[in-house]
Amino acid sequence: MKQSSSVTLQLLSLASLAATTQAELGKIHWKGPCNLTNETDMSGSAPLICGTLDVPLDYTDSGSNQTLTLDLAKWPATKKSTADPILMNFGGPGVSSFEGLGLYGEEFQAITGGHHDLIAFNSRGVGNTIPFSCYNDATSKQLVASLAPADGTASDTARGEIWAQSANLAQACYAQNNQTGSLIGTSFAARDTMQVLDALQGKDALLNYWGFSYGTTVGAVIAAMFPERMGRVALDGVDNPTEYFNGHNPEAVMDADKIVQGFCLGCVAAPDLCPLAKVYRNATELGSAIWNMLETLKFNPIPIPSQNGAVTYSDVRATIYEALYLPSSWPVTSEFIGAVLTRNVTVLGNPRVYPLLKSYGTSASLTSSSSEISTGITCSDRALSASMKDVLPYIKTRASLTKIAGDGSNTEMRCAQWNKKMYAKERYTGDFDVKTAHPALILSNRFDPTTPLAAAKNLSATFEGSVLLEQNGYGHTTLSMPSLCTAKAIRAYFTNGTLPAAGTICQPDVPLFTNLTYKDVWPKNFQRTVESAEDAKILKALMSVREKKSRGKFQ
Ligand SMILES: *[C@@H]1O[C@H](CO)[C@@H](O)[C@H](O)[C@H]1NC(C)=O
Ligand SMILES: *[C@@H]1O[C@H](CO)[C@@H](O)[C@H](O)[C@H]1NC(C)=O
Ligand SMILES: *[C@@H]1O[C@H](CO)[C@@H](O)[C@H](O)[C@H]1NC(C)=O
Ligand SMILES: *[C@@H]1O[C@H](CO)[C@@H](O)[C@H](O)[C@H]1NC(C)=O
Ligand SMILES: *[C@@H]1O[C@H](CO)[C@@H](O)[C@H](O)[C@H]1NC(C)=O
Ligand SMILES: *[C@@H]1O[C@H](CO)[C@@H](O)[C@H](O)[C@H]1NC(C)=O
Ligand SMILES: *[C@@H]1O[C@H](CO)[C@@H](O)[C@H](O)[C@H]1NC(C)=O
Ligand SMILES: *[C@@H]1O[C@H](CO)[C@@H](O)[C@H](O)[C@H]1NC(C)=O
Ligand SMILES: *[C@@H]1O[C@H](CO)[C@@H](O)[C@H](O)[C@H]1NC(C)=O
Repeated sequence: MKQSSSVTLQLLSLASLAATTQAELGKIHWKGPCNLTNETDMSGSAPLICGTLDVPLDYTDSGSNQTLTLDLAKWPATKKSTADPILMNFGGPGVSSFEGLGLYGEEFQAITGGHHDLIAFNSRGVGNTIPFSCYNDATSKQLVASLAPADGTASDTARGEIWAQSANLAQACYAQNNQTGSLIGTSFAARDTMQVLDALQGKDALLNYWGFSYGTTVGAVIAAMFPERMGRVALDGVDNPTEYFNGHNPEAVMDADKIVQGFCLGCVAAPDLCPLAKVYRNATELGSAIWNMLETLKFNPIPIPSQNGAVTYSDVRATIYEALYLPSSWPVTSEFIGAVLTRNVTVLGNPRVYPLLKSYGTSASLTSSSSEISTGITCSDRALSASMKDVLPYIKTRASLTKIAGDGSNTEMRCAQWNKKMYAKERYTGDFDVKTAHPALILSNRFDPTTPLAAAKNLSATFEGSVLLEQNGYGHTTLSMPSLCTAKAIRAYFTNGTLPAAGTICQPDVPLFTNLTYKDVWPKNFQRTVESAEDAKILKALMSVREKKSRGKFQ
C-alpha cells in the first residue's frame, strides 16, 4: 500500500468541507479519465473514470450542513452495459480503491462478464478523504517504528516496550486527528456506500456489492443496516463481524499455521520449484526446520555488515506470514527461507532483498502507513479502553492458536490506549442475524491466514438464504488461487442472481508451486480442460491477478 497522506492534503480536505453546499449532495460529478500518477503504480492506460460525490460529514448530526467529498472511480463495462453497477470494496481497512480497481479492473471485468460498471470509492481515512495519519514527517515516524519491536514474542521485554510505544502512538494519532478521528469507522463507511448507490441509481435501488477481507465487514454491516436494499452481495474472505466489533478476534488467525504446513506440502511435491525439498525429505521435517529457525532468530539474529543491520525474528516471521496470503509467492519465499536457514549473508544483504525484508518486518510494526489508517478505523470501531492486564489473556489466547501470525499485541495495545474522543460517532451494535432482500454469496478459501473458513461459515449461518462457496485452496480470499469454478459461480451470481448449490467446493486450477503463467493458459491445459475461449479468458484473468499480486516479492 502506498502512503498518500500528508499535512497539505489534510488541510485541503478540511478546507473543502466548508466550501461545499447542500445543493451538491446526491449528485456524482464524473470528471473524466483519472490521470493517475506513476506513484500509484498503475499503467497510464487504465480506462478508469474519476468522479466525486458529496456526502454528509457526520451522519449523527442532523443539524449540520457539513459535507465530505468522496473520490470515486469507475471501470466502465466492457460490453454494452446492460446490468446494474457493482460497488467494490478492497478492504484493508484503508486500502486505496483506486489502486485496487486500477490494478485489477480489467481482470474483474473478465470475471464478471463485462456487463457491469465496476465502482469503488476511497473510504474515510484514505487518499484525500479525511486522510488519517499520525505523524506529519517520515523521520519521526521511522524513529517511533525503530523504538519498539514488531512482535510481543520477539523477546522477554518486547511486550512492555510495545505497550509504552503504543501509548505514544495513540497520543500522536490524537494530536493529528482530534477533529476527524471519530468520523471514520465502519458504520459511516456503510452509509457512504449507500449514498453512492442512491446517487448512482436512486433511493429504491438494490445494492450490488463485491467485498474482500475487511470489505466483508463493511458489507456485513451494510446488509445488517439496510437488509431490504441488498441485491447481489458477494463477500470473499470473511472477517467475523461479531468478533471484529467485540474487539478480541483470535479466530481471525486460527488457520495461519496450517498454511505454513500447506507451504511445506506444496514444496516437497514440487522439488524443481522449491530448493528446500532437496534438503528436507518430507513436509514434517521442513516444517520443524522452519519453526526451529524462527525460535533461533529470536535470540540470535543474523548480522548483515554491508547494511549495518540485522535480519531479525520479526523480519523473517512477518515475511513468511505475508507470503501465506499468496501461494504464487511461494517459490521465491522458499529461496528466501533457504537463505535464512543457511544464514546466507550474500543473499540476505543483497541491496534489493534486504530493504524488502525489513519493510515486511516493519509492516508489522506500530507505524507503517497501512497500519496507521487500519488502526484508526479498527480502534474507533472497537471503542474499548483496557489495561495491559486486561489485554494479556487475549494476546496469550491468540499466541496459542498461531506461531506465524505473531501475537497480535500491536493492535490490541494501540486500541486499548486509544483516545475516547476518537471512538466512532456511530458504531453498529446489532447482531448479524440478517434476512437480506436477495440472498448473499459468501466465499472463502479452505485455508486463509487472516479470514478463516470458520468466519465465513459463521456469517453464512446467520445470513438467511446465503450460500457458502468453499475453494479448496490456500491464501487470502479466493483470488489468491485461480479457480475457474469459483469465477464462474461469481459470474453466474452477478449475472443472474444464481447461487451455487449448498456445499459447493471449488478446486483451484494450478498446484501450490507452479511456474505456469497466464501466457500458458491457452492452448495448454491446466489441471482441468479449458473448454472454451471464454473459459480461457477467465482463467487468464485469474492467473493475471495472481501474478500482479505477487509482484515486488523479491523479484
Ligand atoms: C484528466 O485530464 C483531462 C485532460 O486534461 C481532463 O479533461 C480530466 O477532467 C482530468 N480528470 C480528472 C479526474 O481530473
Ligand atoms: C514509475 O516509477 C518507477 C519506480 O517507482 C520507475 O522505475 C518507472 O520508470 C516510472 N515510470 C514512469 C512512466 O515514469
Ligand atoms: C444549514 O443550511 C441552511 C439552509 O442553507 C441554513 O439556513 C442554516 O443556517 C445552515 N446551518 C448551519 C449550521 O450552517
Ligand atoms: C488537535 O489537533 C490540532 C491540529 O492537528 C493540534 O494542533 C492540537 O494540538 C490537537 N489537540 C490535542 C489536545 O492534541
Ligand atoms: C519424515 O521424515 C522423518 C525423518 O526422515 C521420519 O522420521 C518421518 O517419519 C517422516 N514423516 C513422514 C510423515 O513421512
Ligand atoms: C549463498 O547463496 C548464493 C546464491 O544461492 C550461493 O551462490 C552462495 O554459495 C551461498 N553462500 C553460502 C556461504 O552458502
Ligand atoms: C458467530 O460468531 C459469534 C462470535 O464469535 C458467535 O457469538 C456466534 O455464536 C456465532 N454464530 C454462529 C451461528 O456460529
Ligand atoms: C444467465 O441465465 C441465462 C438464461 O438462463 C443463461 O443463458 C446464461 O448462461 C446465464 N449466465 C450465467 C453467467 O450464468
Ligand atoms: C517449469 O517447471 C518445470 C519443472 O517443474 C520445468 O520442466 C520447466 O522447464 C519450467 N518452465 C519454465 C518456463 O521455467
